[in-house]
Amino acid sequence: MTTPNHSHTNILKMGEPLLITPSRPVDLSDLATLTPTIELMKQAMAEYQGVGIAAPQVNINKRIIMFGFDHNPRYPNEKPVPFTILINPTYEPLTNEIVAGWEGCLSIPGIRGSVPRFKSIRYQGYDLLGNLISSTAHDFHARVVQHECDHVNGFLFPQRMTDFRQFGFEEVLWKKIHMLE
Ligand code: NI
Repeated sequence: MTTPNHSHTNILKMGEPLLITPSRPVDLSDLATLTPTIELMKQAMAEYQGVGIAAPQVNINKRIIMFGFDHNPRYPNEKPVPFTILINPTYEPLTNEIVAGWEGCLSIPGIRGSVPRFKSIRYQGYDLLGNLISSTAHDFHARVVQHECDHVNGFLFPQRMTDFRQFGFEEVLWKKIHMLE
């Protein structure tokens, strides 16, 4: 991976207290002040090739997430997810169906784990103009939304795992991850 030498965004790594702290709700009358935070999150997501990111990962204690990609080298087999910014995000399962799938996290670099998640969800949140967004997501799209919502609730993906035999370094697991997909 090449990174621009003129700027490096700092991503908090697992162990930082902010990553296990529920983030503060955003006051919807303050949306106009969020631009620097949104830009920082976009820059970090691009620099580290994330499929999503949450504000606490860039050291901002606010309930803001973003996700989406056309093609991502860290998840090369996954279908595109539309780029979305959500303020004060929430989700609920649409069915009880749980599926296991491989996840990584920019706050846990180089590590992957198989995480059980709801297959289909409805998610809600606000866009930067204060409009309510309510939509459904399935499969990897739903997985990413659940992962990012977890961040603003103070959870990292290992806390959602049930089988730590499916956990390790991505350089070791890479072939296995592909064969399962
Ligand atoms: Ni993450």
